[in-house]
Amino acid sequence: MSEAPHGAPIKTPGQLVAAIIASFAVPIVIIVLLVIYVDNSTRTGAGTDSLSEAEVTARIKPFAQVDIRDANAPRVYKSGEEVYKAVCSACHASGAAGAPKFTNAADWAPRIAQGFDTLLHTALTGKGAMPPRGGTSPDDYSDFEIARAVAYMANNSGGSFPEPAQPAAGAAAASGAAAAAPAGASDAGAAQAAAAMAAMASVPQAAAPAAGGTQSADASQAGKALYQQVCQACHAAGVLNAPKFGDKDAWAPRLKEPMDTVYNYALHGKGAMPPKGGSTASDADVKAAVDYMVSAVK
Ligand code: HEC
Ligand code: HEC
Repeated sequence: MSEAPHGAPIKTPGQLVAAIIASFAVPIVIIVLLVIYVDNSTRTGAGTDSLSEAEVTARIKPFAQVDIRDANAPRVYKSGEEVYKAVCSACHASGAAGAPKFTNAADWAPRIAQGFDTLLHTALTGKGAMPPRGGTSPDDYSDFEIARAVAYMANNSGGSFPEPAQPAAGAAAASGAAAAAPAGASDAGAAQAAAAMAAMASVPQAAAPAAGGTQSADASQAGKALYQQVCQACHAAGVLNAPKFGDKDAWAPRLKEPMDTVYNYALHGKGAMPPKGGSTASDADVKAAVDYMVSAVK
């Protein structure tokens, strides 16, 4: 009786070799697969960064975004250098489109010779391929900041203009209108009016202290203060055809009327002139402001 054949799986030397190789290779393959699995982050195809974090964020960002600014926050003005780098350098660094090149004194000398006011005027209103305000909005860069950029560019290119004076906090909007005024162009009229309206929006609060006192200690002081707070938004630059402060020709025909009539216009409005200039100042203070304006053209 023969023993039942022992069912050994390996019967030939060839199978033995295969079994030995397999016993090494299989664990190694498993280890390699495990390592790949553990290291399995998002893989991007070669030559595309479409799955990079920045790209994905850009694709899924909200469709519309509201840029909230605190209108009452003290404004921090950008320096001329910052404005230049952010805006003007696009053309003025390389001299693109025939722009006078930054630090190139030869390009700038004839322009600097025109004087700062002319340069600023051009920067604000545009000229040839130079877009108004370098293509920015007055909301982003105020006239003052553009002026700083002009001074920065000119002074690095052979000029020696003084640093433009910073507008006083409260008068910022008003002087914005005033600075735009030399533009004089009729298409700037709408912008001026908008600036004046913006200035007026802050008027009631600003004028409140002046309006608070029933009688003012010093009438001429109060008149000047009210003028600066309220009236100059339009009267400094002649916005909406307001008779300009200090402009005798503009005032002469109006002052032919009795002073009471002139006071009345200021108190109750006339054409585009809002009653009390849109403020809540007392009658006495408004009259004082009229006196102040009238005294400047006598
Ligand atoms: C899109 C290109 C471009 C941008 C952006 C730009 N400029 Fe210009 N700028 C020009 C060109 C072109 C001229 C030359 C215009 C000419 O003389 O016809 C010029 C000229 C000027 C002049 C000389 C004007 C004169 O009267 O000779 C000033 C000043 C100036 N730019 C200021 C600025 C300021 C400040 C900024 C940034 C707020 C700015 N520019 C941004 C293209 C640009
Ligand atoms: C929103 C712009 C604006 C503001 C702010 C403003 N004015 Fe006027 N003002 C005008 C305009 C426009 C006229 C010309 C009205 C006309 O003749 O039709 C005018 C005319 C006047 C006149 C001349 C009236 C006449 O014809 O005799 C006086 C005086 C005057 N304003 C005083 C003031 C005083 C004082 C304040 C500040 C308390 C003030 N204004 C604020 C726009 C303004």
